[in-house]
Amino acid sequence: MANLKGKVAVVTGAARGIGAAIAAKLAEAGADIAICDLKAEWCDETVKLLESKGVKAKGYGVNVADSAQVDACVKEVLAQFGRIDIMVNNAGITKDGLLMRMSDEDWDAVLNVNLKGTFLFTRAVSRPMMKNKDAAGNPCGGAIINLASVVGIMGNAGQANYTASKGGVIALTKTVSKELGSRNIRCNAIAPGFIQSKMTDVLPEEVKKNYEAQIPLRRFGTVDDIANAAVFLASDEAAYITGQIISVNGGMIG
Ligand SMILES: NC(=O)c1ccc[n+]([C@@H]2O[C@H](COP(=O)([O-])OP(=O)(O)OC[C@H]3O[C@@H](n4cnc5c(N)ncnc54)[C@H](O)[C@@H]3O)[C@@H](O)[C@H]2O)c1
Repeated sequence: MANLKGKVAVVTGAARGIGAAIAAKLAEAGADIAICDLKAEWCDETVKLLESKGVKAKGYGVNVADSAQVDACVKEVLAQFGRIDIMVNNAGITKDGLLMRMSDEDWDAVLNVNLKGTFLFTRAVSRPMMKNKDAAGNPCGGAIINLASVVGIMGNAGQANYTASKGGVIALTKTVSKELGSRNIRCNAIAPGFIQSKMTDVLPEEVKKNYEAQIPLRRFGTVDDIANAAVFLASDEAAYITGQIISVNGGMIG
């Protein structure tokens, strides 16, 4: 069982869905958590849940696509928690449509949140992570976990913006692992398949059934399936894993 006592995690887009589940599992492993979402009050429910697990938790209103807001948020988290050991770049949006009809606005919005947001938080936490020391005073780095997607690997009709953003997250993950590896900062991505959440609730039943039939495990994943992988990647059990894209997709693709 992962032990994250004494560690501080930042999880973006954690007011609900996969982000809230990741925050909850990290808290069960003992980490204190800064919850980020578009509005601080949207985080209240998750914060209460985490506090009930006996850890320190606080909500922050931040648009991950806004450089100044991200820098201010990281500064505030450092002032209130003292350090950042784990960064989970989870906030993400979709604005689906066929390429021929996709507006510039829908392209930019998705790339800005999913890809630029991941870049901004990673840049902001990298220096503080380099300064982290363990109880014995030795440098101990940190762990960055990005949320990619199965469709960022295989493509998907109607999601040019989303698939490009997630493909970008995969490439960014590999680059960050190479740049920061010598400082013991590990960077990995999780590529979920189809997960039951608000993001997939909008799919028509017919489409969901069709997808399920193509998944070897014959079901959509749960938010906890993703959270379990995130806790592992954040923990010392994954100490020699970096630059990897971990597929959690019921066997859809290897
Ligand atoms: N649900 C799936 O099937 C699935 C599959 C593959 C990948 N993912 C990825 O997992 C992550 C979480 O997905 P989810 O299903 O929980 O989505 P969700 O829509 O349920 O939750 C996303 C959260 O991000 C927040 N958010 C959106 N824009 C933001 C911004 N600019 N700044 C800060 N917060 C913002 C939202 O308010 C929301 O709380 C996303 O990156 C998504 O692309 C999801």
